[in-house]
Amino acid sequence: MTMNMQITPSVLRGDVSLLVPGDKSISQRVALLAGLASGESVVTGFLRSEDCLNTLNAMKSLGATVIDHGNELRITGRANQFIPPTAPLNMGNSGTGMRLLTGLLAGLPLDVELTGDASLCSRPMRRIKDPLAAMGAQITLTGDKETAPIHLRGGGLKGITYTMPMASAQVKSCILLAGLFADGETVVYEPAPCRDHTERIFQTLGIPLSIQDNRIALQGFGATGPAIKGFTLQVPGDLSSAAFFLVLAACQPGLKLTVENLGLNPGRTAMLDVLKRMGCNMTIEPTEGAGREPMGRVTVEGGILHGIEIGGREIPSLIDELPILAVAAALAKGTTVIKDARELRFKESDRIAVMCANMQAMGVNVKEQPDGMIIDGGCKITGGVALESHGDHRITMSLAILSLWANESVQLNNVACVNTSYPDYWHDLRTMGATVHEC
Ligand code: S3P
Repeated sequence: MTMNMQITPSVLRGDVSLLVPGDKSISQRVALLAGLASGESVVTGFLRSEDCLNTLNAMKSLGATVIDHGNELRITGRANQFIPPTAPLNMGNSGTGMRLLTGLLAGLPLDVELTGDASLCSRPMRRIKDPLAAMGAQITLTGDKETAPIHLRGGGLKGITYTMPMASAQVKSCILLAGLFADGETVVYEPAPCRDHTERIFQTLGIPLSIQDNRIALQGFGATGPAIKGFTLQVPGDLSSAAFFLVLAACQPGLKLTVENLGLNPGRTAMLDVLKRMGCNMTIEPTEGAGREPMGRVTVEGGILHGIEIGGREIPSLIDELPILAVAAALAKGTTVIKDARELRFKESDRIAVMCANMQAMGVNVKEQPDGMIIDGGCKITGGVALESHGDHRITMSLAILSLWANESVQLNNVACVNTSYPDYWHDLRTMGATVHEC
């Protein structure tokens, strides 16, 4: 049964403090590397969302043990010796889960199949097939359009030098994970900086990397793989989840929001720079980091934002925040241009098309472009509409924020997808003062 939500427009005021859930990108990497390690890892702040739970389940199918103690997760790894799974590994909705796990398994002598939901099975996988095949993995994309399900027979890899055709942290991480089990050196060149959580966790776990500008090099450990020991790690709060509430607060005079324990990896903070460029009143206070991942407290005070241009090399560092930044643009004064963001069409949905169609349905003057959109801010936001999420969590959460400014209630259809990244989203939206109910 599909779940729909009704959002009642309201002017929110006050001083709110929020703790957002753990970072999805980091939780995914922790699940994979703890499953690979020898002995027990103890993780706090791990994101219990569908995407990360699917990755944990895949690690269990490969023989890892996972015990959730509530305040901490304990994962006992396989010391590089996975058992052959008895069924396809189902990665659900998660591109990160599928692409990174395929990279990890490419180095191991197993026959596996990786699959996912309809959205994941329609997303491009040639981007990982090509480099993994060049390293020596036997990989077949069995979907209609060179898509998942993926059949993989791993092992016997050799290092490659690979220049990524797109700036993708998922592709980079997939290759580096495969490189762990390769003979010789694996070198990846990225066309623009993209999030470096994989590099940071490798270094935390004692795996040396050489990083110079856009070149990342890893010396492989051959078929035996690296000797990673169980570790203790804290996962910081997810800036991509906080982004919805930061934009809500930034656009609402009289509202002040403080988010604590937030991950502030420089490869993820471009959305904060964008909000500041739009005129947002923001303070960022660094606190003690979580391992090599910087953390801090971000406070935003509401006001009137103005339109700007968003594009170029900053795009990979805010790719997941573009839907909610489009909402900020619709609520700002003046015009905002989002460009160089064609990658947004290959996410859980075609986020350019879906955001434009939904914002147009709410009266926003937005023009779809091949690589982005042009948004005239300050239009009247019309409610009384039912909007389609296309099963995309970030679209749903972004539209819920815009609905608060509508002249009538808005129905959001098919919203269970928020569970892929932020199961407590509706609860936290209510904490901000919003009126939301299932319909
Ligand atoms: C992610 C990388 C990004 C991002 C995704 C998470 C990661 O994808 O959109 O939500 O954890 O590496 P691309 O690197 O493919 O752009």
